[in-house]
Amino acid sequence: MRIGVLTGGGDCPGLNAVIRAVVRKGIEAHGWEVVGFRNGWRGPMEGLTKQLGLDEVEEILTRGGTILGSSRTNPYKEEGGVDKIREVLAQHKIDALVAIGGEDTLGVAKRLTDDGIPVVGVPKTIDNDLGATDYTFGFDTAVHIATEALDRLRTTAESHHRALVVEVMGRHAGWIALHSGLAGGANVILVPERQFSVEKVVEWTLKRFERQYAPIIVVAEGAMPEGGAEVLHNGEKDAFGHVRLGGVGQWLAEEIAERTGKESRAVVLGHVQRGGTPTAYDRVLATRFGLHAVDAVHDGDFGVMVALRGTDIVRVKLSEATAELKTVPEERLQEAEVFFG
Ligand code: F6P
Repeated sequence: MRIGVLTGGGDCPGLNAVIRAVVRKGIEAHGWEVVGFRNGWRGPMEGLTKQLGLDEVEEILTRGGTILGSSRTNPYKEEGGVDKIREVLAQHKIDALVAIGGEDTLGVAKRLTDDGIPVVGVPKTIDNDLGATDYTFGFDTAVHIATEALDRLRTTAESHHRALVVEVMGRHAGWIALHSGLAGGANVILVPERQFSVEKVVEWTLKRFERQYAPIIVVAEGAMPEGGAEVLHNGEKDAFGHVRLGGVGQWLAEEIAERTGKESRAVVLGHVQRGGTPTAYDRVLATRFGLHAVDAVHDGDFGVMVALRGTDIVRVKLSEATAELKTVPEERLQEAEVFFG
């Protein structure tokens, strides 16, 4: 048997750990051959391959990024994309694919399986917003990086008596903001799930200054002030005529400075949160996902994604996994309310 493996979407610490587990188990337990496809779905569309033997996966466990490269290519959006995949898979005698990715990559995996190409999915995103799994690998690492940044920023904020607004990733879900905010002792945590009142943030900021401590505000990149995107940047439009998004951290820091008269700084953590070596937790989760993906291929169980439920790895339908994004539920925000403000 020959199987293909690919990584799609944004990179994420732990991708190499999954690849290594798939190769190790595929070869050592089943005697399969494993072919890596480069650059997400572009690989099987254009025949971009990399032979994956045991030597190729030596010493990649701790390495960030992906040795296969990634892309956001969607074969359903490219002329003849799916037919090209069919041809390349036949040419390389590939019996099944393991696709490691987030919502978009796994959405393609689902459609390909429906169209007769056998795929098993492995969930990946630092944002932890994929449905049907308790956690995705990469999230723990991102939270650690953001928490360490908060610890470091706190000392400079205190020294300079400044408000510090720290923008973390999370376009649609506030998991990184909530967890790093709790771990790093933020005074205010703002998430996309709940629009925030600037007046209230200012009030909390001033209260904190009154107690002689510098306020630390964690804001997810997708968080919005009350009134929504129109309020950010005074409803300015971009080159395409869409309301300008992004930059909520900088925007909020300026609002705070203006309304409180206190010095305020914004720090955008950005892609730092996706880089570098995965935590032990993410290495274990990614490895277990890889091992179970091979089991699913071995069982001929396609159109499924491996998922974490409690401490067990289970299989769920790709359709279930990609149906809906997993945002932070209201009770998780309420639970932490006492720490905000
Ligand atoms: O989906 C993961 C993510 O890290 C988001 O939190 C972020 O908005 C996005 O990727 C950034 O993507 P890119 O690397 O394409 O700028």
